[in-house]
Amino acid sequence: MDGPIDLRSDTVSRPSPRMRQAMASAEVGDDWYGDDPTVNRLQDRAAELTGKDAAIYLPTGTMCTQVALHAFVRSGHLVACEASAHAGRTEASSAAVLSGIAFRHMIAESRGLLTAGQVEAALRPDPYDVSVVDLVTVENTHQVGGGTVMSVAQLREIGAVCAAAGVPLYLDGARIFNASVAAGSPVRAYADPVAALMFCLSKGLGAPIGSVLAGDAEFIREARRLKVLFGGAWRQAGITAAAGLVALEDGPARLAEDHANARALAGGIAELLPGSVDPAAIETNIVFVDVSGTTRSAPEWRDRLGAEGVLVTMIGCRIRMLTHVDIGADDVEAALAAWRRAAKD
Ligand SMILES: Cc1ncc(COP(=O)(O)O)c(C=O)c1O
Repeated sequence: MDGPIDLRSDTVSRPSPRMRQAMASAEVGDDWYGDDPTVNRLQDRAAELTGKDAAIYLPTGTMCTQVALHAFVRSGHLVACEASAHAGRTEASSAAVLSGIAFRHMIAESRGLLTAGQVEAALRPDPYDVSVVDLVTVENTHQVGGGTVMSVAQLREIGAVCAAAGVPLYLDGARIFNASVAAGSPVRAYADPVAALMFCLSKGLGAPIGSVLAGDAEFIREARRLKVLFGGAWRQAGITAAAGLVALEDGPARLAEDHANARALAGGIAELLPGSVDPAAIETNIVFVDVSGTTRSAPEWRDRLGAEGVLVTMIGCRIRMLTHVDIGADDVEAALAAWRRAAKD
């Protein structure tokens, strides 16, 4: 790629020539009135891929989740989620401000992956506890967990526990296509045990903008109302939806390449800084490098790598890197050379 090697996120990729062409020639209407044909086609395609009744196209994954939380959870009630999940950590203030919602955190034993037993315990009724859990959310792949993949079987077990407790299950599937490719399970199988899910077109699938929320007909009817309430009725959105349709066609087939590149990146760093990352644990496109055992702090690594032309982010003592459509195997080699230069005194 031109310029720095940008590994800060899989959201930084630029639209492909095919996407730009589709956007330039997109047929559009006014999405407030529901008559943008390209948006409608994207929504129909998303419903088909997920096996849900219907879907709506929204600007961000955050808006999808906030609409879902508002629909499922009463003000003052709780959402149970893994402690480092995007919804309950990065978006907790949105949920508090927009919907009066708080979270019951469950701490995963391994890399963000919840068990059915943990969910069962979080939903167990306590006659002396006045807090009520209205929704359980699961994140797949789990971002802070390191792009970890929950299997369909594990999600089904959690779904069964939720169904027994009468509590709906929501899937933050921002990167569900990465999970689907890594596990070899269709997105539809992941969507089956949950009441609703969202996925992002603007991450690994490579679209410039947009996410999709899918669920049953009644839920999506309410979500359409909430979309307007939250200021998300976005008129000639067919322009970007056209790129979203291309992302759904072209994106999934090349995600395995991102996963292989992430593993190669982790492998090179493990050679340079033994113990900082386990390449065998890289399942998808996210690499965390624990630099606490090195002579530099995480901010020092980030700044040195930046000076060497490699952009990364950090969480605590871990450097975070994501591979994406604009990162090729040659960029991984160049990034590893930058790590080696940054490691020198
Ligand atoms: C797991 C997860 N969920 C939700 C989101 C929110 O998506 P958006 O940035 O489109 O609001 C992100 C963004 O990085 C994410 O990583």
